[in-house]
Amino acid sequence: MSSPTVRIAMIGCGGIATGKHLPSLKKLKQVELVAFYDIDTERAQKAAQEFGIPEAKVYQSYEELLQDQTIDVVHVCTPNDSHAPISIAAMEAGKHVMCEKPMAKTAAEARQMLAVAKKTGKKLSISYQNRFRSDSQYLKKVCEHGDLGEIYLGKALAIRRRAAPTWGVFLDAEKQGGGPLIDIGTHALDLTLWLMNNYKPRSVVGSVFHKLGKKESPANVFGPWEPAKFNVEDSAFGFITMENGATIILESSWALNTLQEGEAKTVLCGTEGGADMEDGLRINGEKYGKLFVEKVANSAGDVAFYSGDAESAADLEARLWIESLLNDTEPYVKAEEALVVTEILEAIYESSKTGKAIYFS
Ligand SMILES: NC(=O)c1ccc[n+]([C@@H]2O[C@H](COP(=O)([O-])OP(=O)(O)OC[C@H]3O[C@@H](n4cnc5c(N)ncnc54)[C@H](O)[C@@H]3O)[C@@H](O)[C@H]2O)c1
Repeated sequence: MSSPTVRIAMIGCGGIATGKHLPSLKKLKQVELVAFYDIDTERAQKAAQEFGIPEAKVYQSYEELLQDQTIDVVHVCTPNDSHAPISIAAMEAGKHVMCEKPMAKTAAEARQMLAVAKKTGKKLSISYQNRFRSDSQYLKKVCEHGDLGEIYLGKALAIRRRAAPTWGVFLDAEKQGGGPLIDIGTHALDLTLWLMNNYKPRSVVGSVFHKLGKKESPANVFGPWEPAKFNVEDSAFGFITMENGATIILESSWALNTLQEGEAKTVLCGTEGGADMEDGLRINGEKYGKLFVEKVANSAGDVAFYSGDAESAADLEARLWIESLLNDTEPYVKAEEALVVTEILEAIYESSKTGKAIYFS
């Protein structure tokens, strides 16, 4: 770092920047929020006023922002199609990068991002905040301790009944690269791969649907969509086999006629036990000849997860990211891991398009 203070720039000042990144970063005493850019300048100005240091600058282009030698880190919170070009330019300009999920629109772009991180020696991480939830952190310890044994089945769940994001460009295939699979399926798959600690896919079969998005739906949580502008899938499903035979079933939707909703959740089944996030966190297995279920409750204020001052997933994510920069250690979410998520998602789209299984070499 150029100084003991981490000087951060925000590129893209919409919902996730102002709702997650900026409030958590502002709480950290080593951080200064010094530069802001958005194609909508008013948004950048508003974010700078609310979160920036008094001398914070608002730029008119990201290229100009990146020339500022005093900036150490860039957070990329723009739509998916600009994740790769902006992250790459930022690393080439000597900045560390925290990029919003998904890593990129395509696996080729994600591979390029990783290559540039390696070439420049800059840190690159992807904002998968669900890993930092208290239930996820607890379950990771359960898995690492071996309590579930060999995990050979995982279910990555991201199912909404009617909650397609109708703001911004989420329904625009060109800008986003896809719908619920790349938007929320990405969180569920990241969580599942990380808990299984398995990043070696062998094959993928996928089914992608454009059914309910093509019809009117006044019942959508975020307001009705225009069917003609709903250019991405409304649901997508994948069957993923790993090199060691372990299997992951991925279910994602923004609109589906189902009562089995659940987002950023996983189900794990191993030789010694299982776990799910259906009702808080539940661990199941067999002990002394009987089947058991242990519930690690997860409601607000719950003592089971209380560890001194309660820290939100977003705050923990931001703190560990800044610590990795100050201590020069590997980021908690590694770009290599996010690349595998991106490759699997792309293979689901590809398999559905071609009607064939996709094999990884
Ligand atoms: N981690 C999560 O759970 C989570 C949640 C929501 C969104 N996201 C991700 O964050 C990103 C942004 O989503 P959002 O909900 O904040 O959307 P948003 O529409 O609220 O905000 C996006 C902002 O980026 C600006 N913008 C667009 N193109 C730009 C460019 N080329 N350069 C600079 N600014 C640009 C827009 O003007 C807007 O202010 C997406 O990639 C999305 O997948 C992640």
